[in-house]
Amino acid sequence: MQDILPEGGVVRKLWIGEAAKYRDHMLRLDPHSRHSRFGGGVSDDFVRDYVDLSLSVDAVVHGFFLGGAMRGAAELRPLGSGFPRQAEAAISVEKPWQSHGVGSALLRRTLLAARNRGYRLLHMACLAENRRMQQLARKFDAELSFDFGGVVGEVESSRATPLSLMREIMADHHGFATAMLDLQSRMLRA
Ligand SMILES: CC(C)(COP(=O)(O)OP(=O)(O)OC[C@H]1O[C@@H](n2cnc3c(N)ncnc32)[C@H](O)[C@@H]1OP(=O)(O)O)[C@@H](O)C(=O)NCCC(=O)NCCS
Repeated sequence: MQDILPEGGVVRKLWIGEAAKYRDHMLRLDPHSRHSRFGGGVSDDFVRDYVDLSLSVDAVVHGFFLGGAMRGAAELRPLGSGFPRQAEAAISVEKPWQSHGVGSALLRRTLLAARNRGYRLLHMACLAENRRMQQLARKFDAELSFDFGGVVGEVESSRATPLSLMREIMADHHGFATAMLDLQSRMLRA
């Protein structure tokens, strides 16, 4: 399915060396979005430590990038060691880019990554009053089952297939090519 994103934006994996972009995105979240993302009010220092930890535990981070800045992020973190079958997912989109399809594109890509890594169960910590996240999750209820009765939503993802692996590889190639073009055009403008 084609993602509909704000013009000029792309969803791709975060690369090594882009930690600062992830941290800056998280720090730019408005207070309400930050509260929803972390399930409560947290300080800037907490956010910085959180990002450092995430990037040190094998998380797969997808970002929504526009003009070189990261404006949305989806994180997929394995739960447990060895070959974990469960993971945790969390999404954040900066306010001006909310309700433009970015969260949907990020969740779609995260579900594909979860499937290809063999995670059978995805936990999504979500406040019970977070209707928007629940609406977003419901869009995928053909391929997943969510239970938001409690605070944590659980998702059963389908098994990986050669086609699902190919979809992730192709998305990575596309993300790389688009980022290179974006960098080139910004260097030419400078
Ligand atoms: C929850 C969040 C990730 C959704 O991202 P988004 O980019 O706004 O999502 P989308 O634009 O793809 O919209 C997804 C669905 O949410 C619903 N939605 C969008 N805007 C909405 C609004 N203003 N009010 C209610 N529902 C809304 C719609 O059902 C929409 O699907 P549709 O456009 O096909 O009808 C984003 O609002 C956010 O970052 N919130 C703060 C952090 C957070 O709550 N994270 C979740 C905890 S893990």
